[in-house]
This record gives sequence, C-alpha cells and structure tokens, in this order.
Amino acid sequence: MQKSLVTGKIHYVGVNDRNKHRFEAMWPLPYGVSYNSYLIDDDIVALIDTVDACYFGTYLRKIKSIIGNRPIQYLIINHMEPDHSGSISLIKQQYPDIIIVGNKQTFGMIEGFYGVTGDRYQVTDGDFLALGHHTLRFYLTPMVHWPETMMTFDEADGVLFAGDGFGCFGTLDGGFLDTRINLDHYWDEMIRYYSNIVGKYGSPVQKALQKLGGLPIKTICSTHGPVWTENIPRVIDIYDKLSRYEAEEGVVIAYGSMYGNTEQMAEAIASELSAQGIKNIVMHNVTKSHPSFILKDIFKYKGLIIGSPTYSNQLFPEVEALLSKILLREVKNRFFGYFGSYCWAGAAVKRMGEFVEKSKFELVADPVEMKQAMREETYQQCEALAKAMADRLKKESV
Ligand code: FEO
Repeated sequence: MQKSLVTGKIHYVGVNDRNKHRFEAMWPLPYGVSYNSYLIDDDIVALIDTVDACYFGTYLRKIKSIIGNRPIQYLIINHMEPDHSGSISLIKQQYPDIIIVGNKQTFGMIEGFYGVTGDRYQVTDGDFLALGHHTLRFYLTPMVHWPETMMTFDEADGVLFAGDGFGCFGTLDGGFLDTRINLDHYWDEMIRYYSNIVGKYGSPVQKALQKLGGLPIKTICSTHGPVWTENIPRVIDIYDKLSRYEAEEGVVIAYGSMYGNTEQMAEAIASELSAQGIKNIVMHNVTKSHPSFILKDIFKYKGLIIGSPTYSNQLFPEVEALLSKILLREVKNRFFGYFGSYCWAGAAVKRMGEFVEKSKFELVADPVEMKQAMREETYQQCEALAKAMADRLKKESV
C-alpha cells in the first residue's frame, strides 16, 4: 500500500513547517504546522489546495511520485489564504493546461495575489465534478475563514475536504491519519488554532456545520493537522461548541503586574476559587504568556477574571491588547470579574468598566481596586470576587 494513500484514490501530499516562528506573523507554533494538500489519482487527476510556496520542491516531488508525468486536469481551491494558495502560480507553470476550480470570489483573489488567469471552472453551491471513481460536490462556506471559503465533498467515499475547517496547529510527524498518530497535543492546539484563527467567525461556522450536517462523512481532510477518521464525532463537537462559544466550568485569570502587587490580588482570587471547589483555574501573566494561549483558555473556560495595574493613566499595555483581541473575536457568554491597581491615580478599573460594556459579559461582582499594595480589606474584596464567580459557575452547572 502506498504510504500517501488516504482512501479510494485520494493521496496526502501536504508538507510540514517546522521553521516558521509565527503563523500569520502573530501566533507561535511550538509544534509547527502542516499545510495539507490532497491529490486524487483518478481517471481524471485533481489536486485539492496547494501549500506554502517555500515548500514547493518537496510538494512537487510528492505529486510526481504518485502520478509520474501524467497531467493534473483540475486544481480545486477551497481557500485562498497564502498558506494554501501560495503554490498556485508554480503549479500553473508545471501544468499550464490545468483548470482551476473555485467560486466567484476565488478568481478575483487568484488574479490579485498571483496574476494567474486562464482556464477555470466557476462553481456555485451544489455543483459537482466527476473524476471517475470519485465525484466531488462543492459547498460554499463563506467566512470559514475567508469570504471565498468552500468545502469539497467526495460522494463516492464520504471524504470532506474542509479547508481550514476542523484544522489544528501541529506538524504531522510521520503519519497523517488520526488512527496512526499520538493525538495528545493536537486537542489543545485545535482549540488554540480555532480561537486565534477562526474565532471571530462563530456564526459562519455554525452555518457551515448545518449545511454539512446531513452528509455521510467518513473522513475529514482539513488543510491543517491530522486527517480525521475515527475521531470525527469529537472533532465536530469541538468545532460546534467553540463556534457556539460554549465553555467548560473553570476560570481564566489573566493579569499584568509591574512590581508584584497586582499579582498578589490574582493569587488571592485563585486561592479562594480553589477553596470554593473550582478545579480548572488557569493563570496567565500577560507579560509572559503569549495572547494566543490566553485566548485558547478563554475559549475553553466559562469564567474570566482580568487584572491590570494603571500605567500612564491607562491600562497596562499588554492587558489592553488582550482586551482588544477578545472584543475582535466577539467572545460571548462569559462570566466576568476584574480588578486593578494604581499608585497615585486609578485608571485601570475604569477602563475595564468600558470593556465590560462593549463585551456584554455578565459581571459577577463589583471590581476590586487597590492603591499601591495589599491590605486586609483587599484580601477580603478579592475573596468576595472569587466567591461570586464560583457561585455563578456552580449555579450554571446545576
Ligand atoms: Fe490555513 Fe485561512 O488558512
């Protein structure tokens, strides 16, 4: 059996990136990332998505090892972000007669990014393409993750080519099928991928899930991470819950602290949350934790408490940046508490009050504001905030 075979006549021809430090120049990649592409070696040969242009040599070698000198008739573009579209013009140079398949939005982007024109098959929702054994049907799924995004379903073997959908960070070290790899670190990386990359688009993801809901899906071929077979229910459940902004019982405490005093407030809150029976408590010092990991935990847990010192009559800059990222993703349905500190004139608590209004989070208690350092009453106020959060979480779980 060929090592690249997924199922039927479908082959994995993706590549691994262990070089890039930050995905989209923003998100750290401790486990790297894969750019997945699939080749269908049928009577008619089709390629689904491409890879980052840096890896074109490896990619072309993989393609030729399967089809030799046979031509590729169709290049199906499910998504135009350059981590997948980057090799379109190089593929076109290798296969000048290739017909590019996309929707109305796709072709403007291909021309704009790469200046590529030529033969095309413009599809709308439900159109199909017969390759021989495999028959592909196209489903437009706009904003999962860009407006041109679509998914391609092989009706012969039940394979969904999902673009970024159901994707996750992490290279594929050896195997690509979920049944043949240790999946331990992929689950949290899936949440971090979703919350950082797709997190703003909960409603479009829900629409896509509804559109695809009736399909007999046996295999999911995403553009990032493992090919999913026996874990499909779990993978769909993760994307369904995240896109509804549903979360587990638990609290994220994210804080900035310049001299350790605001951190003492965070410690007092965490200690009382634990005493109140909350087990999932995740603390992030915003100066040390990259926001992508904080966002991952905010998507994961129902409770959020943020603390900030006052800096130049404003919020601590890293806290302000985090609040902006939360608002950008339109995170919903969180229980929220906040605390702040100042030396001579308080501003942090006031600024976070503005955030509460914008976020529409449910405030569980009045904020705690501290001047300079902890006093007995500050401990009591922090404990009261923690107790209010624990009570609200427990009420929710009844
Ligand atoms: Fe992996 Fe939105 O591209």
